[in-house]
Amino acid sequence: MRFPGYALELGSLAAWAVLVALSLWHNLDLLDGQAREVAAARARMLFSVVETTRLWNARHGGLYAPVSEDSPPNEWLDDPLRDVAVDGRLYTKINPAYMTRQMSELMDRHGGMTFRLTSLKPIRPGNAPDPWETQALRRFQQGGTEVLERVTDDNSDQYRFMGRLLVEEACQQCHANQGYKLGEVRGGISVTFDAAQVLAEINPQKQQTIVLHLVGYVLLAGATLAFLTWLRAGWRQLAQAKAEQEAMVAERTQELRRAVEDLGRSNTELENFAYAVSHDLQEPLRMIGSYAQLIDRRYTHQLDADGREFLGFMTDGAQRMKQMIDDLLAYSRAGRTEINPQPVALQRVLDAALANLTAALQESNGQVTCDGTLPVVAGEVSMLVRVLQNLVGNALKYRHPDRDVQVVVSARPHPEGWEIRVADNGIGVPASARERIFQVFQRLHSNAAISGTGIGLAIAKKVVERHGGHIWVEDNQPHGTVFCFTLPDHPAVDVPSSQQQGGAN
Ligand code: HEC
Repeated sequence: MRFPGYALELGSLAAWAVLVALSLWHNLDLLDGQAREVAAARARMLFSVVETTRLWNARHGGLYAPVSEDSPPNEWLDDPLRDVAVDGRLYTKINPAYMTRQMSELMDRHGGMTFRLTSLKPIRPGNAPDPWETQALRRFQQGGTEVLERVTDDNSDQYRFMGRLLVEEACQQCHANQGYKLGEVRGGISVTFDAAQVLAEINPQKQQTIVLHLVGYVLLAGATLAFLTWLRAGWRQLAQAKAEQEAMVAERTQELRRAVEDLGRSNTELENFAYAVSHDLQEPLRMIGSYAQLIDRRYTHQLDADGREFLGFMTDGAQRMKQMIDDLLAYSRAGRTEINPQPVALQRVLDAALANLTAALQESNGQVTCDGTLPVVAGEVSMLVRVLQNLVGNALKYRHPDRDVQVVVSARPHPEGWEIRVADNGIGVPASARERIFQVFQRLHSNAAISGTGIGLAIAKKVVERHGGHIWVEDNQPHGTVFCFTLPDHPAVDVPSSQQQGGAN
């Protein structure tokens, strides 16, 4: 397994960038909203002062002020009492619109905020609205009550506000003749000021927000990178540990394989040696036997009773040794003969084994039966005959003196294929001997009455194992023994390679 490439780092940096940017955008937007609120509050304040002053003026039907250069009579005011003289001084009527204009001019001198009276239907052309004001006034006609906008162009950045002026009772003394009705929109007062005034309060906060976000991004990115680096290091360590472990396991496996090979080789050598020795012993043994027979035939009358007895022992010994060598060779052969697994009907194998045991069966009055049908397995017929022959033969041999021999052969499915069971009612095998009896020349009973060299089970075990199975002993109830062994099912005729190796002697 590999740790994903540096895409993880890039991806998380990008993800943080997007998140932080979103947050920054949101916060700046909030601040802009705040600025707008401040601007609106300022503009509304000025508007309402002007509006109130105008209303106050209107309710007086206009106010008189001395005529001066700055305050000449209003040419647009159509009123017979517009100009009056008191004590030789000239006074003129200041209607609300004229007052508004004068206030506005005063305000202009202070700079900063300005305001202006306007209408879509101005009596005085100078009160005509500019394009922005036209828009705002149109909105009032559609029901709007105020308009606030930040208007930016090449050389200015301004907040523009407009509040509406409705026709009231007090207005009608001068405006009724123009056809206005109460409650109608007569016009509006627009308030304008540089956005900088408000932004000056907001900008430091904006800068702070930007810096905070930058710092936040750097911290987040740094922490993420550190975490990923830590993760990567851990991962690398883990991978290294795993590789080391795998290397160790491989090494151990190699050692084990070598040990097994060594063992197999020495085993093979030993078996070859045993085979060679057994084979070579046959000839001298045959000579001993035949010369002992010759002495017996030709010189028996020259020997006394002791001599004849000794000669008898000698012939016996030679005979037993021949039997042992034959068995050893059979055992060796079981290990050396090549196995070509074929489908084999076990019933046929059992019949052949019983045919070979005819004499022993008659002698022991033994009965061999099958429990159920026997399956078809994969194996070498002649060797399997040997196994059943040895097992049934043992049952006959180790019979109980008080019981007629009953042997039951059965088979049942087993994870490895089939389990074949040969059950007898003989003298049984003590638990302590259950491993030993499968070794060469290990007889269960040293009873001389029971003939045999004790190699039958060793051969059976070798054959079963070379077929890829295993063999064991169980108790039979109420008396006797069950020999069990497994064989591969047909057509799974593959013999495990380890067994083939062992058999390549
Ligand atoms: C004493 C008379 C008088 C009264 C009262 C009066 N106005 Fe006017 N108004 C005028 C005159 C004259 C003008 C013409 C332009 C100017 O004087 O600048 C005018 C102009 C205006 C204008 C500017 C647009 C234009 O037509 O030039 C608006 C808006 C306006 N009046 C609204 C009102 C409202 C609202 C009231 C009531 C609160 C009101 N006026 C009361 C005399 C009056």
